Amino acid sequence: MAAGDEPAGGLAALDPALVERARGAASIAALTGAGVSAASGIPTFRGAGGYWRGRDPLTLASPQGFASDPELVWSWYAERRARVDGAAPNPAHTALAVLEERLGPARFTLITQNVDGLHRRAGSRRLLELHGCLARARCAGACGRKWDWSLPLGALPPRCACGALARPDVVWFGEALDREMIDAAFRTAAAAGVLIVAGTSVVVEPAASLPRVTGARGGVVIEINPESTPLTAQAAVHLRGNAAELMPALVRMLWGAGTRRGESG
Ligand code: OAD
Repeated sequence: MAAGDEPAGGLAALDPALVERARGAASIAALTGAGVSAASGIPTFRGAGGYWRGRDPLTLASPQGFASDPELVWSWYAERRARVDGAAPNPAHTALAVLEERLGPARFTLITQNVDGLHRRAGSRRLLELHGCLARARCAGACGRKWDWSLPLGALPPRCACGALARPDVVWFGEALDREMIDAAFRTAAAAGVLIVAGTSVVVEPAASLPRVTGARGGVVIEINPESTPLTAQAAVHLRGNAAELMPALVRMLWGAGTRRGESG
């Protein structure tokens, strides 16, 4: 099916054969990015008002940036943390948590590039956080200790108990992802009969390669994004719009569960 400009983001026009395939798929996965948290008030990276607009990402999210100004890096992470602490999961996060409850963890895996923790707060448990977790710090020295940090941070930059500098436990530009986690993500993408790709510009590797793997193995790739991305031309379906509206609608239509009791929609 071609990318749609239909009403309701194109949901009404889903090919019935594709709907049947999706309903019967043994393994279902989702890959999310910053756009899924946009309706929670968290800025994206590359969109209007995004973190990387007018900024060099390497000053804030690279080992070199951290080495040259750890205070600046930590104050940016503290700002992001304050925003996340004041935010709540939106219906896109909830729909994915409800889908996991409905299908069971053996049949559904959520892969996210987001570090904001909102999927976990919504209730997702079988979750691969490819880029780490904003709320966790780790020793930048040799001891490797990890811990949860909270605001206020106190003197910047914070230090590990061993005396070395602490750093956020996230993946920065130029760094490798956790080997086991990325292997699990590729296995999940290869096995998925359906992969929902939502709220990501699909430009940062290796996550950007996951939908290709699903497609090459014959899985159905469904994209949710108000804009077109490098994936759009290859996706079986492009639902054009806000994930907070389209994710619950899609999940309800395909698997009969998109919202929690008491929620509208
Ligand atoms: P981007 O900021 O690159 O892309 C966000 C995407 O979300 C865009 O394609 C938007 O069109 C889309 N979008 C915006 N609002 C939306 C909404 N309400 N519903 C659905 N989609 C919406 O963010 P990511 O693709 O997540 O990595 O970026 C990937 C990685 O690049 C991040 O994890 C981060 C960043 O640099 C690191 O920091 C390592």
